[in-house]
Amino acid sequence: MLALLTFLNAALVLLTFEAFILSRGISTAHWTEKYFESNQVKVECGGPESPSSHASCEKDFTQKPVSMSTSLALVPFDEGRVLPHEKTVREFSLAGHVFTIKQDWNSLGVAAVVWDSAVVLGEYLVMNEASVKGKNVLELGAGTGLTGLVAAALGANVTVTEREEALPNLRATVDQNCADKSWVISATKLDWTQPVDDSDFPAVDLIIGADVIYIEETFQDLLRTILSLAKSDQTHVLLSCKIRYDRDLRFLNLLRNHFKVNEIFYDKNRDIKIFSVVRFS
Ligand SMILES: C[S@@+](CC[C@H](N)C(=O)[O-])C[C@H]1O[C@@H](n2cnc3c(N)ncnc32)[C@H](O)[C@@H]1O
Ligand SMILES: *[C@@H]1O[C@H](CO)[C@@H](O)[C@H](O)[C@H]1NC(C)=O
Repeated sequence: MLALLTFLNAALVLLTFEAFILSRGISTAHWTEKYFESNQVKVECGGPESPSSHASCEKDFTQKPVSMSTSLALVPFDEGRVLPHEKTVREFSLAGHVFTIKQDWNSLGVAAVVWDSAVVLGEYLVMNEASVKGKNVLELGAGTGLTGLVAAALGANVTVTEREEALPNLRATVDQNCADKSWVISATKLDWTQPVDDSDFPAVDLIIGADVIYIEETFQDLLRTILSLAKSDQTHVLLSCKIRYDRDLRFLNLLRNHFKVNEIFYDKNRDIKIFSVVRFS
């Protein structure tokens, strides 16, 4: 009897764990929420006046809120079962190409995993190839650069940008994915906290940003960066994001002081919106 009870108990623990993993595996929303909770801690530890401390604080938050390592020992290791951001490699088929993206959540955090916003914006570009092909495209906060790579595959001249710390990984991913291609794509530093030297980025037709609206303390810097790069209505800006908090809407309202902002696409399954942002003429 005792043995049976022990067995049932163990089975229940496993089942509960399974449900937990699956619920997290199916939707990234849960860990995204955790991520943002952690980010609030990050804001406190960095403080709005010390943006350079982002990286160290981000390291703190990569100490994941739930310890998966001990729990995972219960089930045989299987990449397919791991949360999307914990996978070390992911593949995406877009624009007739397979993009292989190495992820490194543990050491680089947000900048080294592919966010749903990047995939949705990539898919959107594929559906709107004509507005990408032959254009000068600049990606802000590119992370792994998936969206920029898709734009390059569609025939754009692409500059993917990131802050210093994330640049080596971005470069490596770009190099790996266009080794045997004739795509025009390069990776450059562009840190929103620093003034933009617009001679570095002449005549940008299209600015893309996936999941860049995410930390309130960067909003003014991000706004200033977009204003420096999109000086007229000739530069179109596309931002994809999951609206998680009221403050995300506040960023869109900040934009509305200078730009026409329209929601142009909604991916219901992933709850990602794409906004078209164009300077008042
Ligand atoms: C949530 S991630 C999105 C990454 C990628 N676009 C995607 O969707 O997969 C936000 C990105 O913004 C970048 N970022 C944050 N602050 C930045 C800054 N001050 N300058 C440039 N990039 C920044 C981060 O490094 C990170 O890659
Ligand atoms: C791509 O854009 C960059 C920066 O605007 C420019 O210097 C370069 O000549 C362009 N390359 C091509 C092939 O158009």
